[in-house]
Amino acid sequence: MKIFKPYLQALAAYKPPLEGRDPARFELLDFNERTIPVGEHIKQALIDYINSDRLQMYPSYGDICTQLAGYCGVQESQVMITNGSDHGIELIFRGLGGVGDQAIIPGPTFAIYSQVAKVEGMTIVAPEYTKAGGYPLAAVLAAITDNTKTIVAANPNNPCGTPISNEQIATLAEAAPQAGILVDECYFEYTRASAKELLDRYPNIFITRTFSKTWGLPSLRFGYILTAAENIEVLLAMRGPYDINQLAVVAAKAALANPEYVERYIDEVMGSSKPAVEAFLDKLGIDYWPTVANYVLMFPADPDGLYETLMQAGILVRPRVDNQGRKGLRVTFGTRAQTDKLLAVMTEYFH
Ligand SMILES: Cc1ncc(COP(=O)(O)O)c(C=O)c1O
Repeated sequence: MKIFKPYLQALAAYKPPLEGRDPARFELLDFNERTIPVGEHIKQALIDYINSDRLQMYPSYGDICTQLAGYCGVQESQVMITNGSDHGIELIFRGLGGVGDQAIIPGPTFAIYSQVAKVEGMTIVAPEYTKAGGYPLAAVLAAITDNTKTIVAANPNNPCGTPISNEQIATLAEAAPQAGILVDECYFEYTRASAKELLDRYPNIFITRTFSKTWGLPSLRFGYILTAAENIEVLLAMRGPYDINQLAVVAAKAALANPEYVERYIDEVMGSSKPAVEAFLDKLGIDYWPTVANYVLMFPADPDGLYETLMQAGILVRPRVDNQGRKGLRVTFGTRAQTDKLLAVMTEYFH
């Protein structure tokens, strides 16, 4: 049966290795998630909601956008909630481009951008990140045409942890006023770097953020977009009125009301685990991309062997390749105890 648009029939599903990730068996250093459970206050808020006998009702979102605007330091009219940031990314691509339009998606990067661009029938130009040069700004600028409708500027990029500065983002926004600049701030709380101060100057900047990473709620799917109020109106017209699960909003509100569990975790991950892993890699002379995120893309001599050894020791990491097809491992920084376990297994392996 060939009733779909022909170009869709040529696409394949994005299938990340999600099954069998049992937290009782493994340290989950493979998906850049929070590596320990969320606080009791979030669990209790969810239990209370379930016990309030409202599951039979459609969701109502209350003042969540006001709360997010306060947290982000933007106007409420510049915020829209989404079903995870993937949903926001999809809405932005869908709204901006279609068949025959161009998306500039520097790589290697997160798979969803090209998936949604392909679903819209866009052509993709993929300038390459380099370890020395970071975001390929010159190549992106050179690739811009009148047909360019979306330019991705992930800050930081996944899998390499590379940042992009607000100056570079502003250059993109000025060079392509006919396009949207998608600034993916999925890992914002780890870096605290944001393009939000550019929003008033550049109405073609779209920021996506999530509660999936630092806040520890990927299972519930909650994200948001920050952009000019006029864009939010269009995006709201594209989004369904109940696309976001009520439990996701309940958990996000509880998280925002008591963010200490996030702050403590970030301090441990970025202040202790990240430097410990980097020092270890430096000492052993293992190549890795400089990273500002809660993960690192490293290139040990035998990535398959190390992957297998880590898995046997109860640690999951994620195989990734760079632009040259060089195989590496992306490793999420966890708590200090998880890091000590990781480094103990790696020390033994490299001896
Ligand atoms: C750069 C980047 N953006 C977006 C996402 C998706 O986040 P969400 O769970 O909010 O859809 C991820 C998840 O790994 C990511 O790495």
